[in-house]
Amino acid sequence: MRQRKLAHFFCMGLEKSSFCKVNLLLNVLGKRADGFHELETIMQPLALFDRLELERGGGGIELTCSEPRLPVDSGNLVYRAAEAFVRTAAIREGVRLRLQKFIPLAAGLGGGSGNAAATLLGLNELFGQPLTPAQLQAIAASLGSDIPFFLQNRPALATGRGEQIRSLDAFPVFQDTLFVLVHPGFGISTPWAYQQLQKFPAALNGAPGRATKLLELLQSDLELAGAAFYNSLEAPALKKYPLLRLFQNFFREQGAAGVLMSGSGSTTFAAIKGQAAAESVVQDFKAKFGNTHWITIVKGLT
Ligand code: C5P
Repeated sequence: MRQRKLAHFFCMGLEKSSFCKVNLLLNVLGKRADGFHELETIMQPLALFDRLELERGGGGIELTCSEPRLPVDSGNLVYRAAEAFVRTAAIREGVRLRLQKFIPLAAGLGGGSGNAAATLLGLNELFGQPLTPAQLQAIAASLGSDIPFFLQNRPALATGRGEQIRSLDAFPVFQDTLFVLVHPGFGISTPWAYQQLQKFPAALNGAPGRATKLLELLQSDLELAGAAFYNSLEAPALKKYPLLRLFQNFFREQGAAGVLMSGSGSTTFAAIKGQAAAESVVQDFKAKFGNTHWITIVKGLT
């Protein structure tokens, strides 16, 4: 009986881990005619996961979520990804999706984008691969600029509005490196961050080439690479939220190799060599800023 039940589950359902990322570089090159911004960005996948269960059956798309602040209708990227998938693959059957959140929201870690990509990959598996990688890529890009990155699981250079992905090998300098992530308890809206760039012309019109330089340093020298981490969207975010600057100063004083805001914020991350050093930094952070901020140590995904 138990065996029959298990077989039934594996035939009808599956589970996906949905990882997150930090941007080691997010260089905005200018505003485009379509309203998006041209970028060069380097993304590092991290081993911090949401969990998604997918199952065939039910009527239409049924989504439940452990996070009450997230909608479970078309306001949720998972729902929109499922809608686009069943439409494109002409699936008539229903799907049930259960999302368990561990990645903070509006954090610049790409949690929602990762969830959408996991939905596309999971549904494609569940229904016997009806869509090609190119079709998945097209749906992903139509749902959000960050989503194509999450269809693969390696570090990547992204260009265009962030949807053109070149997968890369693991960066050698990150051997033994941990990422300490701090979320201040408030999120930052991505459209807000981009809109604010108008007030920061130097940040809005970055010179291309930082990506090539940083990719080179990521092969050989953590200190030099960390010093070359750069995010154009820090200009508005650090001005509006000085707490984020205090976090950065703290990590630098602690000797972190690289410190940056990820994506459009609000997460700050610090690259630190060795588990013991990372744990000691977290302890000192709590002693200085109290126990109210979400802080965690994660490894790179590769
Ligand atoms: O593509 P995505 O839905 O993630 O983008 C959210 C918002 O962020 C866009 O509506 C746009 O305001 C801004 N954005 C941008 N340029 C990019 C990516 C995002 O202006 N390259």
